[in-house]
Amino acid sequence: MTQQTNRHHATGAPADAADATAPGATQWWRDAVIYQVYPRSFADGNGDGMGDLPGIRTRLPYLKDLGVDAVWLSPFYSSPQADAGYDVADYRVIDPAFGTLADAEAVIRDAHGLGLRVIVDVVPNHCSDQHAWFRQALEEGPGSTLRDRFHFRKGRGENGELPPNDWESVFGGPAWTRVADGEWYLHLFAPEQPDFNWDSPAVQDEFRSILRFWLDLGVDGFRIDVAHGLVKAPGLPDMGRTDQLKLLGNQVLPFFDQDGVHQIYRSWRKVLDEYAGERIGVAEAWTPSADRTALYLRPDELHQAFNFHYLGTGWDAAALRAAIDDSLDAMRPVGAPTTWVLSNHDVVRHTTRLGGDVRRARAAALLMLALPGSAYVYQGEELGLPEVTDLPDEVRQDPAFFRGDGQDGLRDGCRVPIPWSGDTAPYGFGTGGSWLPQPPEWARLSVAAQTGDPASMLELYRTALRLRRSHPGLGAGDEVEWLDAPEGVLAFRRPGGFVCTVNTTPEPVRAPAHAGWRPLLSSGELRTVDDELILPADTAVWWEA
Ligand code: GLC
Repeated sequence: MTQQTNRHHATGAPADAADATAPGATQWWRDAVIYQVYPRSFADGNGDGMGDLPGIRTRLPYLKDLGVDAVWLSPFYSSPQADAGYDVADYRVIDPAFGTLADAEAVIRDAHGLGLRVIVDVVPNHCSDQHAWFRQALEEGPGSTLRDRFHFRKGRGENGELPPNDWESVFGGPAWTRVADGEWYLHLFAPEQPDFNWDSPAVQDEFRSILRFWLDLGVDGFRIDVAHGLVKAPGLPDMGRTDQLKLLGNQVLPFFDQDGVHQIYRSWRKVLDEYAGERIGVAEAWTPSADRTALYLRPDELHQAFNFHYLGTGWDAAALRAAIDDSLDAMRPVGAPTTWVLSNHDVVRHTTRLGGDVRRARAAALLMLALPGSAYVYQGEELGLPEVTDLPDEVRQDPAFFRGDGQDGLRDGCRVPIPWSGDTAPYGFGTGGSWLPQPPEWARLSVAAQTGDPASMLELYRTALRLRRSHPGLGAGDEVEWLDAPEGVLAFRRPGGFVCTVNTTPEPVRAPAHAGWRPLLSSGELRTVDDELILPADTAVWWEA
């Protein structure tokens, strides 16, 4: 293990990265394309059917060649896997299923050697019920100060047989579980994921220490899980209604997006800024509006937040334009870049979500990659993978699936291991099967099958990412200049002589092109009819203009 004795000078950042304080600092994250690796489903190095860090390491050259700037790794920490690793038992230990700390260091080192940044997940809202602190708190019993690190309460009702309040778990059922001594503890997610009490100084100190542990190891930043959830309203007041999750994203809840949470990120920012090499914090923050998301990105807080408002926008030109404008408008006052994201490990893959038609997914990719700011690519979207909708119940692992009335519980369908090569499963994912079955059609979607095929999704992403690099204006700034376009068509200009047009309609339209525009890249085949360029249905085109 590398010892970095002076963390103020410990920079594991890529060789070409600049110090944020140095003249000409890059602020690399402002327009970075960040690729999400979901470790259990990316590449399996030891043949146990589950992806791991050695597997990831062997595939880093693929990511370099794809043309992304950074990799975000979902959790690989010690965990009973009650929620696919988002239930962490030890934040400083690698789960044996994923490898060792030396493997994690090797991934970081190799990635940096290739010029790729590495962001890791940190899960501060809750831990695993197997975490030492929770086990100690249980052992010590009611009244122990160790229980202050969590939300332990007496129940309501004559004998405390009712939960302390009416909050519902995101995964369904009550957000409280009763322990043998009669007290209840809060868990906004699965019962195996007790929520930390962020009023506890011990919790605050512990997480600053965890951040430093990983920063010392050289990570370039953190994706912060449930960043909106850490602070609960004082007194844990009732919601007074059921179906509480329907309000998620519409209003501030007593357990989500409380103003007090920002204090935590101010203190985290100080930690990030202690380190050279532009380390960043990315919020997974579900909030009621883009304006409230921007609060997490004030100059003394985090650097980026996932743009779930954009992710939730349908394939409709007017709605997309409004979402783009709202996102850019909301971030401008805080000076943060907007992010764009179409898929992740919690939502239906966008090839399927946008209507099951790969044409739309191709167009959506070119639209996203032409917008100012940073873009997130979820593993497999560059292969055009669809959601797997017919997984048999017995292979499912999403805890929400088993709890019924919360989230739909169908998150396994976007987590199926990705195909790399070959005609039979597991398609080069590893040598020992795959923890979720891969559909037979995925043979033709593998990396090997698509490589070199100019019509493939993979080559579209590769070309788009290469052009994005060679047109640095593409991700820059915070404005798009909208151009006149027929209904259902988006057209906008970006700096550096670049225009993007997107036909979201099911009909071909005359391209709103001007003399002198030259197509750079198109998600579908362009035709000329009577000397006019025709933009096919559901197609995006990049122009040099
Ligand atoms: C985040 C993660 C999700 C997880 C949940 C609880 O939303 O993305 O996968 O289940 O937090 O940690």
